Amino acid sequence: MITVLGSLNMDLVTQVNVTPAVGETVLGNGLDKIAGGKGANQAAAIGKLGGNVKMLGKVGNDEYGIKLIESLNKSGVNTDNVEKSDKSTGLAFIMVNENGDNSIVVLPGANFDIDEEDIINYKELVEISDILVSQLETPLNVVEKSFEIAKKSDTFTILNPAPAKKLNKSIISLTDLLTPNESELELLSDIKINNENDLLKACEKMLSMGVKNLIVTLGENGSLFYNSKGYEKFEALKVKAVDTTAAGDSFTGAIAFCMDNGESIRDAIKIATNVAAFSVTKKGAQSSLPSMEELKEFMGEKL
Ligand code: RIB
Repeated sequence: MITVLGSLNMDLVTQVNVTPAVGETVLGNGLDKIAGGKGANQAAAIGKLGGNVKMLGKVGNDEYGIKLIESLNKSGVNTDNVEKSDKSTGLAFIMVNENGDNSIVVLPGANFDIDEEDIINYKELVEISDILVSQLETPLNVVEKSFEIAKKSDTFTILNPAPAKKLNKSIISLTDLLTPNESELELLSDIKINNENDLLKACEKMLSMGVKNLIVTLGENGSLFYNSKGYEKFEALKVKAVDTTAAGDSFTGAIAFCMDNGESIRDAIKIATNVAAFSVTKKGAQSSLPSMEELKEFMGEKL
């Protein structure tokens, strides 16, 4: 069983031709309200693929909170441990440009109303989980506390370090698998990545800080798996990008799903690459995630 500790946001999305520069005003096209939040997107990706997944997080006592819980339930995610907070449900303001690239501003609201005591209340849930997945849209000390409990009970920890934030060594050393993108890895390792050599150096530095395994997502350059035994590169799939929102979330969610199903890391990365590619061909966050049937069709039944 997988537990995802993390954020739930209502995404308020508009389309723009070109992302505005600083000081520039542009006209948007339409406004969609789509279920999102990095944590919830990862849980939904697992649930839609058929995984056994529980969400741990908070929403406000408001209409968006109800909608987000409904969306997770529809995706097959258990939401018994999503609590109501006095703060409003998290919001994300998203602009998607004509290349499918996005810019996001998050108002965390209820997502930042989780504290270490909440995690202690869910100690048993973390202990009985096979995998615990988290990101950085909930307070860092809360993620760290949950990973501390996980590591005392052999629960495998996956950290998707987004949105990018510097991390202390203790949380890194509690992480079994880190899934940064290139810019997150640059920030975490303090190494500017200009070429493959820099990339490998940055991964090595993370290992020296205590992380056990890394999968670095490299956009159109695919991904890199790295641990103390060596490394392997994986190619990206070429698709026409409609909206890249939740591509990274769907990748991390799919990795967790595959690992929980006993797939090898190599197969997990190949499947996750397809899940992420599928997601960028569709609009929105949770609205873009494939079911197992959709994924099989997308992969030409290669599953
Ligand atoms: O990773 C995409 C997500 O980031 C969006 O769904 C938005 O809510 C923000 O959390």
